[in-house]
Amino acid sequence: MTQHEAKQVWAEPYKIKMVELLKMTTRDEREQAIRQAGYNTFLLKSQDVYIDLLTDSGVGAMSDRQWAGLMMGDESYAGSSNFYHLRDTVEKYYSYKYTVPTHQGRGAENILSQILVKPGDFVPGNMYFTTTRLHQELAGGTFVDIIIDEAHDPASTHPFKGNVDLDKLDELVKRVGSEKIPYICVATCVNMAGGQPISMANMKALRKWCDQHAILIIHDMTRVAENAYFIQQREQGYGDMPIADIVYELCSLTDGATMSSKKDAMVNIGGFLAMNDKKFYEDACNLVVVYEGLHTYGGMAGRDMEALSIGIAESVCDNHIKARVGQVEYLGNALKDRGVSIVQPIGGHAVFLDAKAILPHIRQDQFPAQALAAALYVDAGVRVMERGAVSAGRNKQTGKNYRPKLELVRLTLPRRVYTQAHMDVVVESVCRVIANADSIKGLRFTYEPEYLRFFRGRFEQVDD
Ligand code: F0G
Repeated sequence: MTQHEAKQVWAEPYKIKMVELLKMTTRDEREQAIRQAGYNTFLLKSQDVYIDLLTDSGVGAMSDRQWAGLMMGDESYAGSSNFYHLRDTVEKYYSYKYTVPTHQGRGAENILSQILVKPGDFVPGNMYFTTTRLHQELAGGTFVDIIIDEAHDPASTHPFKGNVDLDKLDELVKRVGSEKIPYICVATCVNMAGGQPISMANMKALRKWCDQHAILIIHDMTRVAENAYFIQQREQGYGDMPIADIVYELCSLTDGATMSSKKDAMVNIGGFLAMNDKKFYEDACNLVVVYEGLHTYGGMAGRDMEALSIGIAESVCDNHIKARVGQVEYLGNALKDRGVSIVQPIGGHAVFLDAKAILPHIRQDQFPAQALAAALYVDAGVRVMERGAVSAGRNKQTGKNYRPKLELVRLTLPRRVYTQAHMDVVVESVCRVIANADSIKGLRFTYEPEYLRFFRGRFEQVDD
């Protein structure tokens, strides 16, 4: 794609062949549904949702080619031809030599953490992700946030809020020693920061730093193609480079990766752990047979590995990614134009509402983002997700609630699923809810699960 074409208006590089009919509900029905769900949008039945912006995970629309790929499934227990296709595809597009399939991203995180993290270790990362941090902790490690400060400020318009702060890494090494740091977990397009990218320059600087300290870089590459798009749009020297080449370059600066292929790669289930080191691969093969399945399927059906290989190739096409991020920007700009407080710049997979700014009357320990998510569902049946204090959980040492600076509601766009008209409905609904923000009440837990409490926690409204 030339720079000139990149500036043209975006449109979907596909047409719709099949549709899924949606149920429309009344406000009364939705009020009852959210009460029954304990004010947690994860506990709603999908049948009661009109526009589902809960997540972009496993909910994309597969292409006709991916569906055709399902028919090519080689469901042999061992040595499926779809595995070899996947392995070759990962090496071709992502540079990693060895691939260990897993049932989804957290399966790869579990194996990675068990291999590399020892009790007492520290694992720095450019902001935490819920499942990633938990696996580090379960292996005895402590997560350390080394993202730049701008990432914690929703109003900062820094173009690469996913960047790593090398000074924070220097401080950590001084404090604990580099032998206590097995690897640095670097996410491309940082989810919890609002879908914010890391720059190529920062990744290169980090590579140099890690080489000096003999520390590995493990890449959470869940949304690497979206990160590559921002590099193409914003970073000097990359304007004419195809997305596929930027993705390859990013990956080749790292030593290994965990992948949830339910996002970028547009399959409903699947993931992998990938690396270049033979011994690391051997260790991963030893564990994958315990937790996931044989090393040539790791919890995936042959047909799913085939759809994944095809999805990877589609995910790095310039026209695809331009329309994908274009739709997110359409929604974000429409909200911004109406004065809604959102995380800036607009992210790659989602628009994040700043719940602290929208509901200043609700204290953070009464979970404003959770309350806003519930109110949005009641208004028009749009389902979104809390990404604030509930998601952040409790400090494993002190047991105290984390108080993250970012108290956000995530409007996440599934890939290739909704139209621009759906986005307009969402904008209208968000504005209506904000106009009546005073009537939204805070929440308290009635049930708090031990791990990843945001998934299954239940709440009630607080009256004071
Ligand atoms: N890393 C990142 C950055 C993620 O966003 C996710 C999942 C994972 C790892 C774990 O992958 O779900 O396949 O086990 N994110 C989903 C979301 C759940 O909605 O953001 P998984």
